[in-house]
Amino acid sequence: MPVIALGVSSSISVYKACEVLRGFQKAGWAVQPILTPNAARLVSPFLFSTLSGRRTIVETFDEDQEWSVAHVALAKEIDLLVVAPATANILAKFAHGVADDFLSTFYLAVRKPVLIAPAMNTAMWRHSQTCANVGRLRARGVEFVEPASGYLACGEEGEGRLADPALIVERGLEILRRGHSLSGRTVLITAGPTREYLDPIRYLSNRSSGRMGFALAAEAAARGARVILVCGPTPLDPPPGAELVRVVTAAEMAAAVRARFDDAEIVVMAAAVADFTFPAAAARKIKKSEMGESIALVPTVDILKEAGARKAGRYLVGFAAETEDLRRRALLKLKEKNLDLIVANDVSAEGIGFDSDFNKAVLLDTDGGEAETPVLSKSELSRIIWNHIESHAVPKS
Ligand code: CTP
Repeated sequence: MPVIALGVSSSISVYKACEVLRGFQKAGWAVQPILTPNAARLVSPFLFSTLSGRRTIVETFDEDQEWSVAHVALAKEIDLLVVAPATANILAKFAHGVADDFLSTFYLAVRKPVLIAPAMNTAMWRHSQTCANVGRLRARGVEFVEPASGYLACGEEGEGRLADPALIVERGLEILRRGHSLSGRTVLITAGPTREYLDPIRYLSNRSSGRMGFALAAEAAARGARVILVCGPTPLDPPPGAELVRVVTAAEMAAAVRARFDDAEIVVMAAAVADFTFPAAAARKIKKSEMGESIALVPTVDILKEAGARKAGRYLVGFAAETEDLRRRALLKLKEKNLDLIVANDVSAEGIGFDSDFNKAVLLDTDGGEAETPVLSKSELSRIIWNHIESHAVPKS
C-alpha cells in the first residue's frame, strides 16, 4: 500500500496537521504520522494514531517498535515525506544534518521527495538564518509550501501561518503524480564552471556556482530518471541520486560528455564552460618577469554545439547567459547549436543568475514557443524546465 510519512513539529498550528492527514487519506494514501517530542507535548500522539490507523512514531529508541532499524525501514516504504507544520528548529536540523530525534534522523534516511510547510512567527521566518536554511534545503531539492501570506524572498510581507491544509495536500499529490514521470530515462546534465589553468596557481574561470545544474539534476532524479551529472569545480553538496562525474577543464568536460552521450536520451547543458583556454598549462609557476604583456588564448571546444551535431533523436537543452538582447541572441544559439530548447537568462540582473539561489528565465523552443518566468528559486525553475521537456520530448515507447 502506498504510504506518505507525515512529520509534525511543535507549532501552534499542529492541529491543522490532522486535516493534512485526512486529505491524503481521502486521496487513497496511507499516512504514517511522526511527531517530534515537543509536538507530542502539544497534542496527544494517540489522536494521530486513531486518525491514521498506524501507531504514531515519536521516540527513536522505542521498545515497542516493529522495525529493526525503524527510520531506515520506513524510509524505504514511503513515497513522500511531508512535514507540516515545520518549525524553524526542524528546518535548521534538516539543513545541517542534526539527527537527535526520530523525525530528523528519518529525514537523513529518506531518498524520496520531501515537502515542507513551515509555520512560525514572522520575525523567525524572515530571519536570515531561517532563509539560509530554507535556501540550503531547496538546493537539495526539498520543496516548500510557503506560509500563508509570506513568500520565500524574506523581505516581503508574511505572517508565517501554516498554508491551507488543502493546498499542502494538493502539492503533495502533485509531487507524487510526477514522481515516476522520467523513470526508465537517462539524462545527461552539465553543471558549474570550468577552470583553465595557466600554471599550477593561476586559472581562468567564471562566476557559475553549479546551482542551476544541480537543481535540474535533483529534479530529474526525483522524477525517477537515471541522472549523469558532469560538473566542474563547485563546493556544493551533490544532489542525491545522481551519478557524479567531476571534471575541471572544458576539455575534460567535453571528453566526459562524449563518453556518456550515447547513454542519454535527454541532454541538458547548464554548465558555464570557459570559451577560451591557454595553449598549454605550465608545469611550474610562471614568474612575473617571464609573463610578457599579453597572454595567448585558444578557443575551447563548444560542447553543446558538438552535441547538437550528433544529437540524432535526443532532446537537447542549452542555456544562454546574456547581458543584452536576450531573446535574439538566445534564438541564434538555439539554431546554431541545433537545440530543442534554450533557457535564456539575463546574467546582468542583480540578485539572480550566477552564484545566486534565484533565477528568472525565458524558455524558447524550436516550435516558436516562448515562456517567461518570474524570479524563482532554481529548484522551482528546474521544475518548469522539466515540465516543458516532458511535454515536448518524444514519449518513451
Ligand atoms: N557551451 C558549451 N561549450 C562551450 C561554451 C558553451 O557546451 N565551450 C554551452 C553552455 O553550457 C550553454 C550554451 O552553450 O548551454 C551557451 O553558453 P553561453 O556561454 O551563453 O554562450 P556561448 O556559446 O559561449 O557564446 P557567447 O559566449 O558568445 O555568448
